[in-house]
Amino acid sequence: MTIAEVTNYQQLLEVKSLKKYFSASGGVLNKNRIDVKAVDGVSFTVKKGETLGIVGESGCGKSTMGRAVMHLLEPTEGEVWFEGKDISKYSKRQLRELRKDIQIIFQDPFGSLNQRMSVGAMLSEIVRIHKIVPRKEEVTYVKKLLGDVGLNPDHYSRYPHEFSGGQRQRISIARALAVKPKLIICDEAVSALDVSVQAQVLNLLQRLKAQYQLTYIFISHDLSVVKHISDRVGVMYLGELIEVTDKHRIYNNPQHPYTQALFSAIPDVAVQGKKERVILKGDVPSPLNIPTGCRFHTRCPLAQDICKTKKPEFREVEEKHNVACHFV
Ligand SMILES: Nc1ncnc2c1ncn2[C@@H]1O[C@H](COP(=O)(O)OP(=O)(O)OP(=O)(O)O)[C@@H](O)[C@H]1O
Ligand code: SF4
Ligand SMILES: [Mg+2]
Repeated sequence: MTIAEVTNYQQLLEVKSLKKYFSASGGVLNKNRIDVKAVDGVSFTVKKGETLGIVGESGCGKSTMGRAVMHLLEPTEGEVWFEGKDISKYSKRQLRELRKDIQIIFQDPFGSLNQRMSVGAMLSEIVRIHKIVPRKEEVTYVKKLLGDVGLNPDHYSRYPHEFSGGQRQRISIARALAVKPKLIICDEAVSALDVSVQAQVLNLLQRLKAQYQLTYIFISHDLSVVKHISDRVGVMYLGELIEVTDKHRIYNNPQHPYTQALFSAIPDVAVQGKKERVILKGDVPSPLNIPTGCRFHTRCPLAQDICKTKKPEFREVEEKHNVACHFV
């Protein structure tokens, strides 16, 4: 392996036992405080240049995990290492700098865009604040960005309401790209778009990844979308990662009973794996009252007595394939 290859394959991000708890009643001094364990000890790595998909039912902690990784939400516990540095120890000033390296794109482009500013003015302001290019190159830089995300550079002076939903999501992508990030966290970035527009935006994200040498964490409840874009996929259940491996393995041969049930619900995947649809009993328990032992035991079709008391380790069951289940 050459030095260039070694550099190329280094871990860009390492997340170690990350926790984010919210207080459900009163402040920290309130004796009746109950914690909402939204993210409860998540560990994973992301290589430079790869896309890690994160899936799981609503409320399992995907968005909280994304925000805690970039310290938009301060983690309760755990470490986040970015480019070999522990960002948990960063000062406020260092964290502000980090915001350039790690960007996030949300589901609702309309809500997250300033309606009173033209697209060009908004992007130019970001470029100026972060001193990305000299002042005289600003307009050219922003127009190139607009072109790169598939918008007409001549629409520089238009306002967000003059664009369609898909075009507005392209504007949020341009806004994220404007500061030359290394990692972009896409949180349900295409979930609000029509299916045909979704495909266009996903293809755009793929193209930009190569062009700008980006790395993505792609959070979505939509398993087909995640399948399209990811290299590896992590499955979350009640604040924990319960299975992580490469896309082909997880879609064709999922090992964790929860992953098997979740993926059996998507028609194309069910056919590939020739699996019966698995219907899970009951709802996801509340993160205020997490089951003991394996937190999936209340719904797991394969649960045994041990599952009620002993928490399964998140272990490597084969090379680069981690699963948290006593029986895998
Ligand atoms: N600010 C907050 N205060 C208290 N509880 C919160 C807060 N933010 C999220 N939660 C709770 O944390 C849990 C995880 O929420 P989160 O939004 O991260 O889930 P999600 O997987 O992104 O869900 P969705 O698919 O619906 O977007 C939920 O039970 C949610 O109600
Ligand atoms: S540890 Fe037990 S309850 Fe948990 S997933 Fe495995 S079989 Fe099911
Ligand atoms: Mg979410």
